[in-house]
Amino acid sequence: MEKMKDGNKGKQVTCFLVYCVSTAVIGSLQFGYNTGVINAPDEKVKNFFRNVTLVRTGEPMHASTVTTVWSIAVSIFSVGGMIGSLCVGALVNKLGRWKSMLVSNILAVIGGGLMGFSNMCNSHEMMILGRLVIGVFCGLCTGLTPMYVGEIAPTALRGAFGTLHQLGVVIGILVAQIFGLESLLGSQDMWPLLLALTTLPAVLQSVLLIFCPESPRYLLINLNKEEEARQVLTHLCGHSDVEDEIREMKEEAMKMAMEKKVSIPELFRNAAYRQPIIVAIILQLSQQLSGINAVFYYSTAIFRSAGITGPVFVTIGAGAVNTVFTVVSLFLVERAGRRTLHMIGLAGMAFCALLMTISLGLVNPARPAVEGGVFPNSTAIPTLPEGGTSLVSILAIAAVFGFVASFEMGPGPIPWFIVAELFAQGPRPAAIAVAGCSNWTANFLVGLLFPQLLELCGPYVFIIFFVLLIFFFVFTYFRVPETKGRTFEDIASGFVNTAGPNTVNYTSPEGVFALSVSPSSDKIQM
Ligand code: GLC
Repeated sequence: MEKMKDGNKGKQVTCFLVYCVSTAVIGSLQFGYNTGVINAPDEKVKNFFRNVTLVRTGEPMHASTVTTVWSIAVSIFSVGGMIGSLCVGALVNKLGRWKSMLVSNILAVIGGGLMGFSNMCNSHEMMILGRLVIGVFCGLCTGLTPMYVGEIAPTALRGAFGTLHQLGVVIGILVAQIFGLESLLGSQDMWPLLLALTTLPAVLQSVLLIFCPESPRYLLINLNKEEEARQVLTHLCGHSDVEDEIREMKEEAMKMAMEKKVSIPELFRNAAYRQPIIVAIILQLSQQLSGINAVFYYSTAIFRSAGITGPVFVTIGAGAVNTVFTVVSLFLVERAGRRTLHMIGLAGMAFCALLMTISLGLVNPARPAVEGGVFPNSTAIPTLPEGGTSLVSILAIAAVFGFVASFEMGPGPIPWFIVAELFAQGPRPAAIAVAGCSNWTANFLVGLLFPQLLELCGPYVFIIFFVLLIFFFVFTYFRVPETKGRTFEDIASGFVNTAGPNTVNYTSPEGVFALSVSPSSDKIQM
């Protein structure tokens, strides 16, 4: 085949590449769907819980027990997510990327089945177990999809392809919202099907995966199968001029052979990995502690408190804004760069957090903003007092829409895929596991603590997120390197010191930062 011109070579998108990425992104869709699906049928599921004991003992379940069982059913999903995300590293090291995705679908079928048949079997235990299993599955998806996509995407388009994971997530949330409508699957009879529906994409992905290849990086670097890797690359790129990629992978393989296997503790012990893993964790925290899910869980209540009639529809509007701006980010990420977009997003969110505080403060200056509610989506969504003027209503809508739009510009998509970029093949699985688990833990904590914070701080609760957002902005400015257009190896070596044995450094557009490390560090000099 003819040698490609350099400019086009790295940016060529073949149908096969699109097919493979789309197949992998079904995992992201599953994560989004299962995140959003439990919202709509809450009352119906609680009725089911009441009936469970009625059938078993002749007495309906006590109201407080219903609340507790519901809270457990909701929150156990995040616990499963923490477990699943932590298992990603071990799984991909043992089975590879492709087989891991295939095998993880078994969990979706089991989890969906347990939830779907819980009503028929009159068992709330099945429902809780199903949510746990689905959580583990989604935890795996949040690691496996960005890893596979990051490894098969051409360097020049890795950011755009990486953003597809978040696009899958937001579309999954939107689909869950729409399917959850009373007139569709959110009814008294249909809710088990709504929850069981997650089995279908799992079966679909398993079938589509048959025609997807193993990641060429895994083939060459981990299994030393150079010829197979070359064939896969050729097929993915649509041309046979893949020697640059093969050379880069071989270099990485050589360096990996010199290092010992990278375990999770090793990421923190070894100075060469410590800095990127801190960056990866803080970026994940910046996504969750930005308060995005506080807004998603409570947007209806926030809108209601600002005196908006029909708050549910404005919430769906927020879901639409969420999707549109993920697409905007998709087109910007290879131009503006990850670091810039992340900072723009954080700054926009901070500004909108202030606007939200002002609008809520104008409506409810002194009263506590919440009455009741222990967990997002749990008992009733916290009720905020109604009232306010139309100007305040517009301000509140603009603030929430702006908050969500800013989130999707950077803090939504970037943390998910940048971890795969910050690490070379050796430490990547362990790093993705740690980052994913940090994300799920922070998500769990925000969900758990936000109602209490709301009770404590009233309309000023978003000041907390404002302060955190400013901190993450400053951190990104000083500590996060730009990864756009750079090879994995180049990015990883940017973190490794060339100046002296007891320091590591890394490059950001502001310059090279040198950090002291312990002299006992077993960092390998390159
Ligand atoms: C990100 C977050 C997830 C959030 C979603 C909203 O994927 O990880 O927690 O619900 O964005 O779009």
